[in-house]
Amino acid sequence: MSENRIEQLDNVILSPDKNSVVIIDQTLLPNRLAYTNLSRADDLYEAIVKLRVRGAPAIGIFAGFASYVLAKQIHTEDYEEFSQAFYRNTRYLNSARPTAVNLNWALCRMDGVVRDNAQKPVSEILQRLEKECLAIREEDIVMCTAISENGLKMLKDGDGILTHCNAGPLATSRYGTAIGPILMGQERGLHFKVFADETRPLLQGARLTAFELQKAGVDVTLICDNMASIVMKNGWVRACFVGCDRVAANGDTANKIGTSGVAILARHYGIPFYVLGPTSTIDMECTTGDDIEIELRAPEEIREKFYVEPKALPEVKCYNPAFDVTDHSLITAIITEKGICYPPYSESLRLLFD
Ligand code: MRU
Repeated sequence: MSENRIEQLDNVILSPDKNSVVIIDQTLLPNRLAYTNLSRADDLYEAIVKLRVRGAPAIGIFAGFASYVLAKQIHTEDYEEFSQAFYRNTRYLNSARPTAVNLNWALCRMDGVVRDNAQKPVSEILQRLEKECLAIREEDIVMCTAISENGLKMLKDGDGILTHCNAGPLATSRYGTAIGPILMGQERGLHFKVFADETRPLLQGARLTAFELQKAGVDVTLICDNMASIVMKNGWVRACFVGCDRVAANGDTANKIGTSGVAILARHYGIPFYVLGPTSTIDMECTTGDDIEIELRAPEEIREKFYVEPKALPEVKCYNPAFDVTDHSLITAIITEKGICYPPYSESLRLLFD
């Protein structure tokens, strides 16, 4: 195994003694590839808030492991006492970030195990919780492979692709979603030219996507977010591939802030715009994008983060939404592990769940 290829590393796993969650701390990349072990509730919560672990599927996997690790710290044989403490942990972890539905989705799966086994001894419930969180991760690996296969059908050798934020191996397990087809194609001898938006203000494109693709030997060019239009105009982009944090029932898609601007540009230049994500990111309970809560983050991320000195006065007002919603009318197709959905999405997405 090559140490260089990020898709071959385990970025979110349970420690061998099963008492902590081990992650690659994404805030240290690309300068340091370091693992960190987390077992305290506050540290697990902080890791999500601070984006040490990030990307919708990775947050889901992490939440499953975190829920299990915390469940093991509840020392009681009494079901009522156990379940109350368990659900308290769920609520705490679930409040870390609001937009990516995979957090809530994974925690609901863990809650379901506790609810459905109320008659069983706590020791057996713990065993089932362990099985469930490991299954979430295993399913993610299978899901990434299937999405990558489906996404690859949209590409041909030599294509230029623009991507925004990071929907690669670090955001999932193995291949990633939007980056998956590129890595899989590369393994099969295809060559793509990828433009990675740097993704202000937290630079997931620069720090993570460009890093993953460079390590995999893919031809990647880093651009600032405001350069997307010129590379499209130059004719260098044949398709846009992005991930998603929550897809509403009508296809409106929340993803990293700036994604909707890329979709509007792509429409202007007549470039197909593809959203790639697992069915666990589709939230049929959100009718449209208006129902999706958008996370607001600290102004310091805009004013001073990554700069040697602040680049704005401390009293300057900032608006820092972490996500935006791309209107379904701008999306060419939504590529999932179960198949490729085309408009009208209110029908094609529903069929995925029938
Ligand atoms: O704030 P982040 O870095 O968690 O935002 C991540 C994204 O917007 C990704 O595109 C999305 O989660 C898909 S990851 C496969």
